[in-house]
Amino acid sequence: MNDTPVALVTGAAGGVGGAVASRFAAGGWRVIGTDRPGTRADADAWIPADLLDVDQIREMVAQAAATFGRLDCVVNCAGLWTEGPAEDTSEDEWDRVVGVNLKALYFVTSAAIPHLIEASGSVVNISSDAGLQGNAGAAVYSASKGGVSNLTRALALELAPRGVRVNAVCPGDVESPMLLGQARDFGGEDPEGYLRRLLDGYAQKGRARFIRPEEVAEVVWFLAQPEAAAITGANWSIDFGLSAGI
Ligand SMILES: NC(=O)c1ccc[n+]([C@@H]2O[C@H](COP(=O)([O-])OP(=O)(O)OC[C@H]3O[C@@H](n4cnc5c(N)ncnc54)[C@H](O)[C@@H]3O)[C@@H](O)[C@H]2O)c1
Repeated sequence: MNDTPVALVTGAAGGVGGAVASRFAAGGWRVIGTDRPGTRADADAWIPADLLDVDQIREMVAQAAATFGRLDCVVNCAGLWTEGPAEDTSEDEWDRVVGVNLKALYFVTSAAIPHLIEASGSVVNISSDAGLQGNAGAAVYSASKGGVSNLTRALALELAPRGVRVNAVCPGDVESPMLLGQARDFGGEDPEGYLRRLLDGYAQKGRARFIRPEEVAEVVWFLAQPEAAAITGANWSIDFGLSAGI
């Protein structure tokens, strides 16, 4: 087995996923990126897949494991945002958001387990502050991320005896295409006002800023390192205190 560790990053064409792929590459790992068919980003190998399709997930993970002959870390970054009054939620909206954020993350991880056991590897899930507390007006997203944070704990316990660690990172609002899409899709006539209102929710008020994808990537990187051997089942906040309380 080649000694260079290998990371599989989902959502690698996105803001956080792209930063995670770059961080692992800068740290000397080989990186396999995956995202929707038709996307592409910088990585040693690229395997597109629609994560709403579990067969495609299993095929993608099998290909990823075969590419360099090992898998040391799976970073689950793919995700979708939605918000709006609960009485207006369509079944399709629920299926897409819970399908990508929770079901796909679970089946990517599930398919990777045998390879991670072989490498004594780890999983890092991107949850959210909404995985730790409810976000008013975003019940579907909160449900999906609450699921991510709690399956992180359950899988950490299940896999600990086999040497695999499972953690989650829970960012607040990250400066990424998702956040700009939120403002565009849900900010009505005033997307700038939408973003300002988000920042008003932070304890820092006028001094608040959005989190940079690179800051999230740095936490993910640390959690994948041997120095983090004692950390498993954790939901690591990076949110300027947003989920600390009111
Ligand atoms: N941006 C934020 O404010 C924020 C805050 C907290 C948590 N998060 C979480 O961080 C993660 C990364 O988000 P981001 O901010 O980089 O958003 P992003 O939109 O830039 O990236 C998400 C990626 O997921 C991919 N994806 C979506 N549906 C897919 C599908 N069916 N198949 C394959 N890939 C699919 C998209 O193509 C995209 O590249 C997500 O899980 C998100 O929920 C984001």
